[in-house]
Parts: sequence; structure tokens; C-alpha cells
Amino acid sequence: MVNTDLIPKYWYNIVPDLPKPLPPPRDPPEAEFSRIELLKKILPKEVLRQQFTIERFIKIPEEVRDRYEAIGRPTPLIRAKRLEEYLGTPAKIYFKYEGATPTGSHKINTAIPQAYFAHEEGVEHVVTETGAGQWGTAVALAASMYDMNSTIFMVKVSYEQKPMRKTIMELYGGNVYASPTDLTEFGRKVLKENPNHPGSLGIAMSEAIEYALNHGYRYLVGSVLDVVLLHQSVIGMEAIAQLEELGEEPDVLVGCVGGGSNFGGFAYPFIGAKKGKKFIAVGAAEVPKFSTGRYEYDFPDSAGLLPLVKMITLGKDYVPPSIYAGGLRYHGVAPSLSLLVREKMIEWKEYEEEQIFEAARLVMKTQGIVPAPETSHALRAVIDEALEAKKNNEKKVIVVNFSGHGLLDLGNYESIKRRIGNKK
Ligand SMILES: Cc1ncc(COP(=O)(O)O)c(C=O)c1O
Repeated sequence: MVNTDLIPKYWYNIVPDLPKPLPPPRDPPEAEFSRIELLKKILPKEVLRQQFTIERFIKIPEEVRDRYEAIGRPTPLIRAKRLEEYLGTPAKIYFKYEGATPTGSHKINTAIPQAYFAHEEGVEHVVTETGAGQWGTAVALAASMYDMNSTIFMVKVSYEQKPMRKTIMELYGGNVYASPTDLTEFGRKVLKENPNHPGSLGIAMSEAIEYALNHGYRYLVGSVLDVVLLHQSVIGMEAIAQLEELGEEPDVLVGCVGGGSNFGGFAYPFIGAKKGKKFIAVGAAEVPKFSTGRYEYDFPDSAGLLPLVKMITLGKDYVPPSIYAGGLRYHGVAPSLSLLVREKMIEWKEYEEEQIFEAARLVMKTQGIVPAPETSHALRAVIDEALEAKKNNEKKVIVVNFSGHGLLDLGNYESIKRRIGNKK
């Protein structure tokens, strides 16, 4: 039995603690309609309220805390001793293992409260997009917890690469479509220009929002927006308490970045508590947001239905290379994380597929866990930090957010393995 007292009673919001005010979401100048007004029709009311709150702590409803407990929170903090030994490092490595939830990733941490708030408001059907399928799976489960229907627009390449994710979403009761679809005006427009379009998260997001608007359903948001990072703060709050129980002071905190939600949820409570010396956000070299993205107002979705947010972005129409199987394909970085990276409070790194594949295999060989390809990016940085500590003979404490397991991503690893070989 885990100590459920460690499940936090509050979510932590970093917005009031940022070194500079966060540039607010805004409407495009001379827009034909207000995106901010439209948000009121898209998001459950309480989700919208939390998106714009400047309170530092927000109470987690008891019902949501119970659900967190039911899915196995607090998730384990695992000391990766075998990995340390293999690397011969004096550093200690800890995994905050979010793969332990029933859906296999951190995404359920925000799906549950969003579904709960929607249900409380009488919503019967929720809609979202998904890339790898982790978010879609979390929404399908959370919707089923509250007897709501769910419709999920899944990026077409992933839909084809990951049929098992579709199966699990359907088993939870979700309806899954490969985006671009012909169910929305935006999807039809994309298909008209290119019938073989592989899809992107930005397009799938726009389709989900349009579909929700057309049917009077509500849209659940999986990353990027502040409210999502707020809900994900349970990860970091738990990790702080777990490290305290062990008497450990963290030095380096590492996480991977798609839209930024697992990273923010894990790292921000440490920043708020003034713990940790170095923060590393890790992206994919194949989707080079940190190295080549621009810091500017851009739309989170390709159709531009959501308000503009100031973020590091490759552009709303960005389409990642189809052959690439490492995840982290979203075009932007959450506004608060973009700001912290720009202020140099958080470092970034980018790794290529081959490097993350090697990291995944090393973690499998030493610790046995199959990491999600997304998580493998963070693990690569952990290994490099541990080797650096070895060179300098430093007893650092490195903590990584192990955002998900890869048991439904074996197709991705198979495709990388075929391309680069399976050397030990
Ligand atoms: C296991 C896992 N980790 C990380 C991510 C990246 O998303 P985010 O940056 O919002 O945590 C995803 C996205 O689907 C994921 O499935």
C-alpha cells in the first residue's frame, strides 16, 4: 500500500512566481471573431476559470483526489541503482514513474479533473485530439469514469503506426477518427489541398475544437495551456514529499517536452519551493523547437481557433517528418516554460532518434522498464548528466520525470531499430 497522504491537497500554479509577467493569451488584431470569447464555448467553465487564475495554490476537489488515489497516486519514486552502477557514476538517479498509471502516462492527471468539471456542469460528451495516443487514452478513461462519451481525433500517421492505442481508447468507450477527417470543415480543407496529408497535432486540435463547437460538446485540452500544467503539478508536489522522506536534496531535474505539461507539472513545484539547481527541458532534434523556434505570439492549433499565446514555436502549420518515431511532435512550448527558457532559468537540450534509442535500451537493460519514446529523450539527458558527474566526481542527485511507459510504442522502437540497427 502506498502512502496516499502524499497525494497533494493543492495544485501549484507557477504564474504568480514567474520572474516576469506572463504575456496573456490574446485575440489577433482585427479578428473577425474573438477567440477568447470562443473559449467560453469550448472549455468547461471551471477549466477556463483555472486557466486565468493567478492564485498560487488551488484546492484539489476531494472527488478528484479520490480518483487520483484510485489510479495509483502517488506514483513511485524509483532509485535507478542498476543504471547508476552500469554508468559507474557517483550521482544518484531517481525516476518519478508516471508510467504506473492505468493509461501509462502522466496525461491522466489533467484528464480526470477536466472530465470531472465537465461532468459537474452537465456535459455529456467531450472531444479532444491525440498524437501518440497517450492523451486520447487518458481522456477516454476519464470520460468513462464520469459516464460521458468521448470523441478523439488522432493524428493519421500515429493512427496507422499505433493501432493498439485505438483499441484501448475504444475499449474505454471512445470514438476514434484519423485526422485529417472529412467530419469538419477544417479537415476537409486540409484533405482538399493534400488527400495524403499525414496529419499533425495542430490540425487534430482544430478539428476537435470545431467538432465540439458544432455539436455543443466540450473540448478537453491536453497540454500547453497553464491550466494543464497546473493540474500536472501533482507530479512535482509528490516528488518533493518523496525526496524529503528520503532526506534527499535534488540537484538536477530533467523532463521531456512535447507541449510542456509533464515538464511543468514536475519541475515547477521544485522552482516554487526553491529546490533544485539545474533544470533541463529536453526536446527532439527532429522537431527543433528550442534550437530553431521563434518566441512570438502564435496559435496553439492550426486553424487558429484558440487565442494567440506567446510561446517558442515552429509555426502553427508545422508538420514533423513522417518517418520520425520519437514523439514530442507538437510545434510549440507552453508559454510559462517558453518564458523560463528565455530567462535562462531552465536549460534545454535536443537529441536525435538514435541517441534516445540508445538511452531507452540502456534503461531497459539496467532497470527493465520500457520507456515511452518521449521519455527516452529525458533519459538521454539523465545519462549524460550522470556521466558528467562521473567525470567531475560529483555526488549529484538527478531526478527525472519518467512521463510514460512504452509498451504500446513498440512499433516506434521497431521502426527505429530497423533503420539504425540493434547494436548493443
Ligand atoms: C509519455 C509522454 N511523455 C511526454 C509527452 C509530451 O507531452 P507534454 O510535453 O505535454 O508532457 C507525451 C505526449 O503525448 C507523452 O505521451
